[in-house]
Order: sequence, then structure tokens, then C-alpha cells
Amino acid sequence: MKVDVILGLQWGDEGKGKIVDVLTPNYQIVARFQGGPNAGHTLEFENQKYILKSIPSGIFQEGKINIIGNGMVVDPAMFKQETETLEASGHQLTDKLYISKKAHLILPTHRLLDAASEKEKGNSMIGTTGRGIGPAYTDKVSRNGLRIGDIFHNFEEKYRKATDRHKKMLSQYSIEYDLETLEKEWFAGIEKLKTFNIIDSEHFINKRLDEGDKILAEGAQGSMLDIDFGTYPFVTSSSTICAGACTGLGVSPHKIGEIFGVFKAYCTRVGGGPFPTELTDETGQLLRDRGWEYGSVTGRPRRCGWIDLVALRYTIMLNDVTKLVMMKSDVLDTFDTIKACVAYEINGKKIKDLPFDISENIKPVYVELPGWKTDMTNIKTEDAFPKEFNSYLSFLEKELGIPIAIVSVGPNRAQTIIRK
Ligand code: GDP
Ligand code: IMO
Ligand code: MG
Repeated sequence: MKVDVILGLQWGDEGKGKIVDVLTPNYQIVARFQGGPNAGHTLEFENQKYILKSIPSGIFQEGKINIIGNGMVVDPAMFKQETETLEASGHQLTDKLYISKKAHLILPTHRLLDAASEKEKGNSMIGTTGRGIGPAYTDKVSRNGLRIGDIFHNFEEKYRKATDRHKKMLSQYSIEYDLETLEKEWFAGIEKLKTFNIIDSEHFINKRLDEGDKILAEGAQGSMLDIDFGTYPFVTSSSTICAGACTGLGVSPHKIGEIFGVFKAYCTRVGGGPFPTELTDETGQLLRDRGWEYGSVTGRPRRCGWIDLVALRYTIMLNDVTKLVMMKSDVLDTFDTIKACVAYEINGKKIKDLPFDISENIKPVYVELPGWKTDMTNIKTEDAFPKEFNSYLSFLEKELGIPIAIVSVGPNRAQTIIRK
């Protein structure tokens, strides 16, 4: 069978986790393919709220296998914290969470290097999550990384070699740190990792596909944060687009099925970098308040703005999205009118394709549509959508060229409408 992919089309936090949880019953396996604990995927059901960082969002559905894929970077200390919190709330994980031997380890010194690099950048800092993501992927690509599979053989020696290198690098920065405390938590995390199934995930996944299983690949971050195609250098350090699911799980492009592109009915971004439709006025604050737009990992207020169809068309192209998923529709419930950016104006010229340089002289060209002024949060079927909401959906589908297959009207699992 096939691997379907769910990924974010904006700058992250689109609501991917919720949709993975909703769609998991249709699959046997859910697998994360990139990123690490920079992700914060929120799930709400049965009056409970969970924020998953490294664990795939299929973990709460009965009888499913969840895999931390080879393309991910894992921080054992954070992994321990995350798994123990779930275990304490009654969730048994060891028989349903598998980890790839080839996933890379985030070392305590990677976190220190992340902080040091940000400090050095000063005003042009990226605004990373501080989780050591960039330095861990840097070590992977420069062939200095440690992988989960390494923890079983001569690990102390490999660890010391890697941290000695990092300490030399850190000595160039004027930062103070207490590595001993960090290492204590980290090595306790290594012991925790050993209690899970650490597998050759590429073999496992391909075998299961051959046997007829369906797999859901869960993306983290968003396509506008992709290392190649995002707003570089204000990006994350992994391949967040659909192609990343192939390298991050070890599956051929032939095996990819549906590609679900998740987007908010408006737009947000957390951290630095260009954001052409950003609203720094009271409308932006209203979006932040109504959408509770505060980072699920760092608690930072998210920057808010209108939906950007130039950027969305670009990310839909990169991923060849087959189905769109619109999240947080209810956040716009009280607006008299809603704006959508259909083009950019640069030096008096209108452009519809995302340019190389997304600098400050971009003026978004907006179309203004009537709001629906209706509480959407209790709507259960699409027949009950207000007329203006249907017009917004049709407008977006026409502009983007693909159907919006799922609409989300609230954070809860149940507040999801699968369209016919
Ligand atoms: P992810 O990283 O893409 O999984 O998204 P996050 O979990 O970081 O951010 C999405 C936020 O929006 C979370 O707080 C969700 O609980 C919430 N959310 C998801 N869907 C909806 C929705 O349709 N309406 C509202 N109001 N909130 C939603
Ligand atoms: P989910 O999966 C939103 C952003 C950071 C920063 C940049 C680089 O929850 O959608 P990094 O720590 O990855 O080196 O930071 O990327 N960023 C995210 N923004 N959602 C995320 O994940 C993010 N993961 C990283 O804010 O701008
Ligand atoms: Mg998030």
C-alpha cells in the first residue's frame, strides 16, 4: 500500500497534529520523518490536551504503531520527559512506539551551540526554538553525528569525542554553561530510549507496505520553513516538504499516495524572518487572541496576518498537494470582512509567483471577502456552513486549484468536518 503525507503549508503550527490524530484510524502506522522537539503538535479530545514534540500524533489511537523515523533528530532528555508525562497519565507507549536506529541524537552541546549561534547573530538571529536542531543536523550532514543505533556500542567513547569537538567550538563564544547537569538528564534519557523498540525502520516500513499496511507520514514545521525552499536563512534545518518523507523514512516516491496540505484560514509565524501579510495592528492582535496564537513549544507570541495565497500556491506546487485541509476557520467567526493576499506588488509590479527575495518592499495585494459572523464551533456537517463561509472556501479552491477536503472549526478532535 501507500504512504500518505500530512504536512504544513505555511510557517508551522497549522494544526498538523490534530489532523494526524483525526485521520490515524484509516492507517496502521504513523511515522514522523523530520524535525525533532522543535515541533509542538497539539491534540485535544475527551477534555484532555496533549502537546507532542517527538512522538507522532497517532499515539492516542488504539492499536497503531508510531515510528520516530530516520530523518528525525532526538533529544533523549526531552524524549524521557515527554514519554514519562504520557505514561503518568495512563498511556502505555513501549509496545506502540518504535524508533529508527538511524535517527540522529541531539547532544546537550548541540543545545548550547544553538544558543551560542543565536547570540552571535544578534539582531539577525533566527529565533530558533533553542532545541539544538540546527547544530544536530549540521553534524549529521558534516558526518560527525551520533545516531540512536550508536548507543549500543562503545557509546561513551563516541559521545566524548563528539562533545570534545563541541567544547572546542563553544570556547570561541563567551557563554557559560553547566554541562554536567545537562549530561545527567541526557544519559538518563539514553537509558529510557533503550526501553523502546529501536528498529531498522526503513526495512520495517517497506515490509509493512508490501504486506498491505497503510502509513501516514507526519510532517513537522511547514514548507515555508524548509531548508531549501523556505525563507532562508529564517528556516529550520530539515526538509519539511513531501520529498522529506521519502528520505526521512526510506520510501520511494512511487510509494507516496495522498498529500494532505494543512493551512490556517489566516497565517502565523513564530521567530524571525519575512512575513509579507503580517499585521502588527489590532487586527493582528485579534487573530492572536481568538486563535490563542502562542507557541506550543516556547510560549512565544506568534506573529499573525492574513492568508498569503502567493506563498500557499508555491508550497502547494512544491508538494503537489492532492487535498487541502483548512484549520482554525472559527477564529475568523467574528470578522466583518476577511482579506486574502492574491499577489505581491514589488516596485509597482504585480507578481503571483513567490520571489527569491522576500524583502520589506513587498506590498500584499488583497481581495476582501465578507465574513460569516456565525459561531462555527458547533457545526457538524458542511450543509450547515454559512453562505459567506462557502464563498470563502470556493474562492480559496479557485485560487489554489485543489479541493479543501477537510475543515476544522475548533481544537477538539470532534470539531472536524470531512467534506464529501
Ligand atoms: P501543529 O504544530 O501544526 O500541530 O499545530 P500546533 O498544535 O502548534 O498549533 C495549532 C493550535 O491550534 C493548537 O493550539 C490547536 O489546539 C489549535 N487548533 C487546531 N485546530 C483548530 C481549529 O480549527 N480552531 C481553533 N480555534 N484552534 C485549533
Ligand atoms: P511545528 O511542527 C513553528 C521555527 C522557529 C524558528 C525556525 C528555526 O509545531 O509546526 P529551529 O529550532 O527549528 O532551528 O528554528 O523555525 N520553527 C517552528 N515554527 N512551528 C514549528 O513546528 C517550528 N519548528 C521550528 O521558530 O523561526
Ligand atoms: Mg506546533
